[in-house]
Amino acid sequence: TQDANINTNIITLTRFLTEEQVKHPEATGDFTLLCHALQYSFKSIAYYIRRATLVNLTGLAGSANTTGDDQKKLDVISNDLFIAAMRSSGKCSVLVSEEEENVIFFPSDGAHYAVACDPIDGSSNLDAGVSVGTIFGIHKLAPGSQGTKEDILKPGTELVAAGFTMYGASAQLVVTMKGGTVNGFTLDNGIGEFILSHPDMKIPKKRAIYSVNEGNSLYWEDGVKNYFSSLKEAQENGKPYSARYIGSMVADAYRTLLYGGLFAYPADKKSPKGKLRILYECAPMAMVFENAGGQAVDSKMARMMEVVPESIHDRAGIFMGSYDEVEKVKKFVK
Ligand code: AHG
Ligand code: MN
Ligand code: MN
Ligand code: MN
Repeated sequence: TQDANINTNIITLTRFLTEEQVKHPEATGDFTLLCHALQYSFKSIAYYIRRATLVNLTGLAGSANTTGDDQKKLDVISNDLFIAAMRSSGKCSVLVSEEEENVIFFPSDGAHYAVACDPIDGSSNLDAGVSVGTIFGIHKLAPGSQGTKEDILKPGTELVAAGFTMYGASAQLVVTMKGGTVNGFTLDNGIGEFILSHPDMKIPKKRAIYSVNEGNSLYWEDGVKNYFSSLKEAQENGKPYSARYIGSMVADAYRTLLYGGLFAYPADKKSPKGKLRILYECAPMAMVFENAGGQAVDSKMARMMEVVPESIHDRAGIFMGSYDEVEKVKKFVK
């Protein structure tokens, strides 16, 4: 009968989070509540992005952020939504956002987490309706801390959880916890639930796809130039690599996670520290890629997860992707 075909074992994000909590008898429920607030912010941001063209939310806001980017209206709105969600969760004490110059503090006795976020990643793609995303990284406050800048100025190895949501043809949430697997959820707009669609994601060990803004090659160091040139030569199978570059790190990273390959934004002569920012772009992505069996390194080929930011908007060069593809980069860039 028809009924026999209904899958009753659907795992919603809500169920997944509750089951994770039950697995940890010492858990207080605080982390679960924080994740519910994150879930709310992703749904809200997705809703605004989908309606932007219809309600005059395309284009620039008329301001710039600390890292020098011109802010889009949706950068500002998504930042406000994210901040409101974190504040009202009562579980986030320290918040860093790409769109905020300074650390934001929400001191409260019950708030034991520090969150870093890029509310809209890929905002240059917004007005063309191309996929963008939200990136997040979660740290736990040091024992006894009421929340200080030091609680967030930590390397990726200290993250308790990280991930991103990509707003594409559908909204895709990818999340991982310290030492855990990577799980992907798809937002079912009809019922407003994220459904586990990609359990235990593993990145293919290798794949002949590279993703980089090649327009910057004029500024690249020789090792980086040589590496990318080598990909355009015939490989063992007689074919060169394919190039894919969306220009939204989240979307390029999501494809790389699923198909394999390599994504890079190297430090170069124009941007000696790189472009992407450690706390809310590089470290969370590095955690996802490592937990999926891939690798992420900076422009010195040091493990991205171990890079310690000195200030909240610090940048790094990044190379991340399939295990074997990153090994290949290391051979060229030393
Ligand atoms: P954001 O939109 O959060 O400022 O991030 C932009 C980043 C990232 O999404 C992307 O990988 C990269 O900038 C693209 O930069 P180029 O336009 O220089 O290629
Ligand atoms: Mn920006
Ligand atoms: Mn970004
Ligand atoms: Mn951004």
